[in-house]
Amino acid sequence: MYTVAVAIVTSTAYFVWLIWIHPLSHFPGPKRAIASNLYWAKQFTSGHSHQSVRSLHDKYGDVVRWGPNELSFACVDAWKDIYDRRKDGKVLIKDPVFYRKDETLRAEHIVNAEDPERHAEIRKMMSYAFSAKALLQQEDLILQYASELREAIREKGADGPINLVNFFNWTTFDILGELAFGEPFGSLKNRKTDSWIAIILDHMQSMAWDAAIWKFPLLHYFQSWLTPKAVREGGARHALESKKKILRREREGPKSDRIDFVSYILKKRDELLITDWQLAAHSNALIIAGSETSATVLSGLFYYLCKHPDVYAKLKDELRSHFSNANDITAKAAGELPYLTACISETFRIYPPIPIAMPRVTPEGGCTIAGHFVPAGTVVGVHAWSITHNPKYFRDPDSFRPERWIEKIDNLEASKPFLTGPRMCMGINMAWIEVRIIAAQLVYMFDFELDDNNFDWAREQLCYVLWDKPELFVKAKVFSR
Ligand code: HEM
Repeated sequence: MYTVAVAIVTSTAYFVWLIWIHPLSHFPGPKRAIASNLYWAKQFTSGHSHQSVRSLHDKYGDVVRWGPNELSFACVDAWKDIYDRRKDGKVLIKDPVFYRKDETLRAEHIVNAEDPERHAEIRKMMSYAFSAKALLQQEDLILQYASELREAIREKGADGPINLVNFFNWTTFDILGELAFGEPFGSLKNRKTDSWIAIILDHMQSMAWDAAIWKFPLLHYFQSWLTPKAVREGGARHALESKKKILRREREGPKSDRIDFVSYILKKRDELLITDWQLAAHSNALIIAGSETSATVLSGLFYYLCKHPDVYAKLKDELRSHFSNANDITAKAAGELPYLTACISETFRIYPPIPIAMPRVTPEGGCTIAGHFVPAGTVVGVHAWSITHNPKYFRDPDSFRPERWIEKIDNLEASKPFLTGPRMCMGINMAWIEVRIIAAQLVYMFDFELDDNNFDWAREQLCYVLWDKPELFVKAKVFSR
């Protein structure tokens, strides 16, 4: 009895402190979110956190406390205050709980390295892989895959509706496979998702569960019980297979004259003390960062085009009046088409491939974000979905309207799908080249139509750090003049 009473009094006192006395208590947010990480974890693993955080911003404004120690921002100034280098030259570090490390595929890699100095060394090592010279070689590879993709769609499209999401995944994972493991997965050639990729795509949800479990100090001890057996075993197989692939690439050398990402990492392996697991972790991270995201924006683009026949017709007209052969469509040539650029930018806005807030931790002494003082040790981030759907920045934010990128009346700076600052995406140029070439060649060559025009693909999306995309069946008719 006594113990129960003590427990009730202590927890009541703790909740009172969290809600009314805590240094974040003046930030608005739902009490159930402030009282415990359970709310955050539930939203994050529900697949609907993009919508729930947006509703919180609609209700409470630009800054919302949606966890005991967590603030979400949906205002444009927060981009630079959270992610850019600050006046003292320092950056807010990545949240070590979210970017957790261990001794398998979560070993230190380019995305999860949190120490700014160590990250700078790794980023420098990788910068050559993203240089103008490397990009030229990567463009050749992308052109080769774009041509194979056209052929695959032509062939399979003749038999009936095709799931475009698969075709884009096959292409972008094969490209990154060549660059990050030195070998393609062969999905596009075999017209079938390779088992290595299938594990990533089938267990998208596990990323969110993992983040949620680690929010609770003791729960991770039970992680293996809480994770479904198939996910656990799939993850272990995936890790071992990744390590095997990368060590084979190291042993046997590159399979072509192309300088892949691995070449740059191997050159510095001894100097930067990169272990076998770190090597595998870099490749794994590069593949996920570079393929799933590009496949997402391509899938989204074609969905929105099919749903907006007027936009689609205008884009077809731009491409078909400019080119007389799909093989002439290079990144440079496609880069000169303003409406294509506007359609892609609008897809990045309305359907950001990483829709969540990438979490950072405020430094000792705290800092000011978008005019608000935030105490030290708070987890902060700009929630990509909320800011890109904020009517303060984008008129009619739920409408797909590429024209906004030409009129430039909206506050376009609010959309930053690649982030900003020293942790900004390293693959931004490669992503634009890839998306431009593939989108332009497909718009030029095919007339796509949704298999079921009433299917609300956008509404069916589940967000688990990245999107768990539903199938997108389309009819593909080859265009002829
Ligand atoms: C549509 C395509 C893409 C989008 C929207 C995108 C978005 C992002 C975002 C938001 C981040 C920051 C992640 C964080 O803060 O944790 C990031 C980081 C990164 N991305 Fe991309 N990305 C795309 C394509 C690519 C491609 C093609 C590559 C090439 C491999 C790539 C490589 C990277 C790398 C290496 C980082 C880590 C940078 C660092 O921490 O220094 N990304 N990306």
